[in-house]
Amino acid sequence: MKKSIVITGVAGLIGSRMADWILENQPEYQVVGIDNLSGGFRENVDERVHFIELDCASEKMREVFTEFQPTYVYHFAAYAAEGLSPFIRKYNYQNNLIATANIINECIRHSVDRLVFTSSMAVYGTGNPPFDESDQPAPIDPYGIAKYACELDIQVAGEQHGLDWCIIRPHNVYGIKQNIWDTYRNVLGIWMYQYLNDQPLTIFGDGSQKRAFSFIDDCLSPLWEAAVGETSNRQIINLGSAIEYSILEASEILTEVMGGGDVLFQEQRHEVKNAHPTWTKSVRLLGFNDRTDLRKGLISMWAWAQKQPSRERFMWSEYELDKGIYDFWKKPAMPIEDQ
Ligand SMILES: NC(=O)c1ccc[n+]([C@@H]2O[C@H](COP(=O)([O-])OP(=O)(O)OC[C@H]3O[C@@H](n4cnc5c(N)ncnc54)[C@H](O)[C@@H]3O)[C@@H](O)[C@H]2O)c1
Repeated sequence: MKKSIVITGVAGLIGSRMADWILENQPEYQVVGIDNLSGGFRENVDERVHFIELDCASEKMREVFTEFQPTYVYHFAAYAAEGLSPFIRKYNYQNNLIATANIINECIRHSVDRLVFTSSMAVYGTGNPPFDESDQPAPIDPYGIAKYACELDIQVAGEQHGLDWCIIRPHNVYGIKQNIWDTYRNVLGIWMYQYLNDQPLTIFGDGSQKRAFSFIDDCLSPLWEAAVGETSNRQIINLGSAIEYSILEASEILTEVMGGGDVLFQEQRHEVKNAHPTWTKSVRLLGFNDRTDLRKGLISMWAWAQKQPSRERFMWSEYELDKGIYDFWKKPAMPIEDQ
């Protein structure tokens, strides 16, 4: 019987692409993919993956681990809507923290060789960029707090129960199979959706905030090393491009790639001004090679985006908290001709 690898969040960007990479490069493993399809799509999942539609917080997770006895677990499932998280606090903690506790329990119970967890740059908060793994985390929103709590809990599980782990802090990962239909996250995907639907490309504030966009294809072999590398065990490692762009610059590159697109500046939101990571540890321990620049990555993602089905854009029908919600999330941006 093949050894197996469990990937949670397998219908999302990182999960589905990691599954593709393992099928291609490590065919001796069976991939067992779990997803509740809250933010990903069944079509993203290769048919060779043993797919199970399940919420990570479910008690049924124990049956999955009992049946497949995974060697490695990639826990990618989360709702990564950082800016929205103050308005869906309970959901955020249930989905991102309680669900992770369930996965940690099963990893301990079933003596998994290593748990790879994708945390986030959000743990650094405002910080002092470039963010280094040795910096003291100080998240500024419930999403970042949940990720940081998960990190701490995983490390405690390592100390107390001997669970091996690697914590990755990815940074603005984008590419083929990203959800471009979510109103609240993945700015490059949001812009592609807007352009495809004759809407202006929306920017919060003046667009001077900086981010380091990281192409998914460059992250996959490092993620494999996170599971199997000797030196990556029990390490926290940033994973993201060394080059940062302002949001405005990124929009200009994308409009060139798409051949058009007007920009609409909107109310500034509560967010970190500049966020970009140090990357030497990822090069040293994971062999990270930041080989795809933003323009090249966007050309490939845009070619894919244009072939996607026209899906309804996701918006929460009700927030847990309306107080303080930004105008742009009260109603969607209007098509240019209606303004
Ligand atoms: N993409 C990025 O830029 C980025 C940056 C930092 C951190 N991360 C982290 O990396 C991980 C993967 O991100 P992604 O970009 O692939 O996101 P994604 O939204 O594309 O994929 C997440 C997947 O998890 C699933 N999911 C969510 N909650 C679940 C639950 N409770 N049970 C089962 N399935 C559930 C969703 O349906 C989705 O398919 C997340 O943990 C995210 O926080 C991503």
